[in-house]
Amino acid sequence: MNEPLLGIENLDSYVVLGILALFCLFESASGYLSASRRTASDWIQEAGGFAVLSFLVKPMIVFAAFIGGKALIPSLHGSVSSIPLIPALIVYLLVDDVLQYWYHRFGHEYDFLWKLHRPHHQAEEMGFFVSYRNAGIYYLLMPNIWWVGIAIFLGGLQAVAIGLILKQFVIIGSHSRVRWDEPLYGVAFISPIMTVVERIIVTPAFHYAHHGKSMIDGVSDPNGNYGNMFSIWDQLFGTAKFTRRFPVELGLVNDPKDNWPAAYFYPLITSDKPESEIARGFVKADTTVLEPTDCEFEAGEAFLWCRCGKSRNQPFCDGSHHGTKFKPVLCGAKRSGKLKLCNCKLTKSPPYCDNSHTRTDK
Ligand code: FES
Repeated sequence: MNEPLLGIENLDSYVVLGILALFCLFESASGYLSASRRTASDWIQEAGGFAVLSFLVKPMIVFAAFIGGKALIPSLHGSVSSIPLIPALIVYLLVDDVLQYWYHRFGHEYDFLWKLHRPHHQAEEMGFFVSYRNAGIYYLLMPNIWWVGIAIFLGGLQAVAIGLILKQFVIIGSHSRVRWDEPLYGVAFISPIMTVVERIIVTPAFHYAHHGKSMIDGVSDPNGNYGNMFSIWDQLFGTAKFTRRFPVELGLVNDPKDNWPAAYFYPLITSDKPESEIARGFVKADTTVLEPTDCEFEAGEAFLWCRCGKSRNQPFCDGSHHGTKFKPVLCGAKRSGKLKLCNCKLTKSPPYCDNSHTRTDK
């Protein structure tokens, strides 16, 4: 199975370029490109990220995995080449995508990986190139790119080539401003089919929720919907949120708008904005205090209570939880007037103070 696809070397790369061009054309024809608020810095990050990933990082990793495999486990070279294409493709895609799910999730839960993945979430509008904006080192560590090299070494070149095409179609489609799924939810006989579709592959609605700025809108879940090609991992591991709606605001709360060299080359280059997470010496301090805060609300008023203990606007979330395993709690005020909100994060009835702070040595 190590013959190139249809006998054409690098056919998958040409097809992926074609998919990008197709979505670029759709976005242009829909008027999104001319109305885009994207800056030169955004374009440099996205187009540059795409070029470096496609023509340098990926070929380098695939080559290294191939050479490493030949040196360490030569007997396995080509060992799966007799497996028929369809089962090989399914196995390749499932392994690839579950690896990427966990890497992506860790990119939100661990501080260093978050700083590498953060440029992806600084995009304030979606687009065909957005999936390529991460720090360069994020790609070097990406396990599923290494899996591409291993799968080719094992003899699965055709499965890899077809898999890459299918996967890029889903990923670029879920990042594009052309929300292909949106009109389908409203068609009575297609809507049930879409229920099945969205529970298998990642749709624009599912992925836009991941890019939403804040959970306060009831649609967004930046700390969920981590799937790349398949949404099944989010359902299996408890991080899925299906609403079929699209967030109004995308991007990061309190985004310091780092320049692109810092965003792309972090940690080699750091931000010149002292308030930025990727500035030299920046520390996310623990901001919990024992005493609760009295806050004024209207009954039912929505707010995000900080769960991580790092917000600089306690007791409310200010987005500082990125890079931790916590996410805020979306609350509705239980009545009008002053309510005591917990600041020690020990309460058993969040977000309200239950006097747990009086029973701790903290
Ligand atoms: S800042 Fe968002 S949960 Fe703490």
